Amino acid sequence: MCGIVGATAERNVVKILVEGLHRLEYRGYDSAGLALVDGDSAGITAYKRLGKVANLENALKENPHDSHVGIAHTRWATHGKPSETNAHPHLSADSIALVHNGIIENHAELRDMLVAEGYEFVSETDTEVIVHLVHKYFQQQQELFKAVKSAIAQLDGAFALAVLCKDEPNHIVVARSGSPLVIGVGIDENFIASDQLALRQVTDRFIFLEEGDMADVSCDQLNIFDVHGELVEREVVQLDDYADASDKGQFRHYMMKEIFEQPKVVAETLRGRLGKHQVMEEIFGADASSLFDRVKRVQIVACGTSYHTGVITRYWLESIAKVPCNVEIASEFRYRDVVVEPDTIFITISQSGETADTLAALRKAKDIGYTASLTICNAPASSLVRESDLVLMTQAGPEIGVASTKAFTTQLVSLLLFTLVIGRRNGLTPAREQEIVSQLNELSDLCAKTLELADRIKEVSNHFTETTSCLFLGRGMQYPVAMEGALKLKEISYIHAEAYPAGELKHGPLALVDSETPIVAVAPNNDLLEKLKSNLEEVRARGGRLYVFADVNSGFSESDGVTVINVPHVSDVLEPLIYTIPLQLLSYYVAVLRGTDVDQPRNLAKSVTVE
Ligand code: M6R
Repeated sequence: MCGIVGATAERNVVKILVEGLHRLEYRGYDSAGLALVDGDSAGITAYKRLGKVANLENALKENPHDSHVGIAHTRWATHGKPSETNAHPHLSADSIALVHNGIIENHAELRDMLVAEGYEFVSETDTEVIVHLVHKYFQQQQELFKAVKSAIAQLDGAFALAVLCKDEPNHIVVARSGSPLVIGVGIDENFIASDQLALRQVTDRFIFLEEGDMADVSCDQLNIFDVHGELVEREVVQLDDYADASDKGQFRHYMMKEIFEQPKVVAETLRGRLGKHQVMEEIFGADASSLFDRVKRVQIVACGTSYHTGVITRYWLESIAKVPCNVEIASEFRYRDVVVEPDTIFITISQSGETADTLAALRKAKDIGYTASLTICNAPASSLVRESDLVLMTQAGPEIGVASTKAFTTQLVSLLLFTLVIGRRNGLTPAREQEIVSQLNELSDLCAKTLELADRIKEVSNHFTETTSCLFLGRGMQYPVAMEGALKLKEISYIHAEAYPAGELKHGPLALVDSETPIVAVAPNNDLLEKLKSNLEEVRARGGRLYVFADVNSGFSESDGVTVINVPHVSDVLEPLIYTIPLQLLSYYVAVLRGTDVDQPRNLAKSVTVE
């Protein structure tokens, strides 16, 4: 969602803040702003601009500024439309400045209380109540840290925040509850951010604040207090260098770079996890074996693309591991009455590890008696990783494009490993496991071969530029693949797209079929191919335009109204991994032709840390 960055240093911090905002822009991007302490407590100067960080950067070029302490923010609107007034930082009496990620649920009542006390509100945001609260308590307590502590005690909801004070110009006070916050540790300089990626240009040493932590950050001192107000030491983590994550290299967009990284990251996700004949189950952690012995059922919860990973996993778990599996969207799961069956493992899937609904679902699951929790995640220091019993990290590396691509394929790989480990407790023979393991060993090459379809798909994408609506069809495991294809297309090209199990066409969607609506079909050469072909005949008979992503051996031929894209042959088990790739490419090329903002599509954010 929104992004926070802050710095306190002996050098000028303006460039550091702007670079940090650029790196965070993938999270939210309707406006940006920063507040700087003018030396020796002369005051606080704030700049805000609507739109992208570049607009703020241009404003700063016109008004160069020198400051040693500052906070900055890139916003993704929740309360109040995108506007300069609603952009952060928010100020109170020109003496306190504050940036905030998250949502304050009791903001309306706090606003009424503060208005009654004489505070004037200028924005429609929930955040503005916090800055006035801090100001109110600062008037009483004359100490910023204490004032922030008193203010947050009044808040219901989720927040990560950073606060500056004109009268205490040498430090930043930060607090986290429900939204991530990290401190970047430097030499005679310290930084804060909502995501360590924002600070990779200045440090590789990080402290990940825990729930309820507050910190007082100046250039030569760092004091962290836990939820009980006790001074605590938190581990300083040195992160590996993944500097190339924020570099597009030869590619025009991060999304394309990330699609093309799939052979590499699939191999990374398998590295060190496969023995000669089987998956090494120690990869799930020391306690995993005994916990897995008890597993009789699986409950998966996730959102968006990660939810589609879950739906595919259900097919694997029930066919290969013979274990019943239920999959649910996190925002639904968290608010319904759930009957927990005995011996059920609870699995969350998430690229960011901070998705608010998925995290809330995990917390609920821990309260209601699941046997254990496992997360499949791509962000090592994230809340989901910290709060789950077992973890299997995907090794996708940072994914910057809002549209999830390489995170999806590496999630699938990870959950196939889980399927095999559970399966061997349920009659999966060593020979069958070995067969799937050898297929996995070939997967990276097969992904690379599939990417060779890029030019052909680019050609085909021309047929979609004027499209307003599109159907994606698949059967069996290809139905969730079709769901993911439809999500990708709508997300970045703004074309309405829906996925259906092909057998469901005649129960309603067939009425949509005409020569204007492209129908994309996912057609590997498997047991359901003949059934799918009959469904596609129904479409052709009604004049529908078909685009079939078909196995080279599946016997489709091109004709008027039928375009066939031949996909390399792949085993049944790995079909979803391979067939997803051409659909990613299709959505990418269509979006580029339609001139949308591919990496930062409108209204969306990379990390959805609000409900
Ligand atoms: O970080 P997560 O995997 O938990 O995020 C879940 C969804 O927000 C995410 O997959 C979203 O649907 C993507 N933008 C899809 O490309």
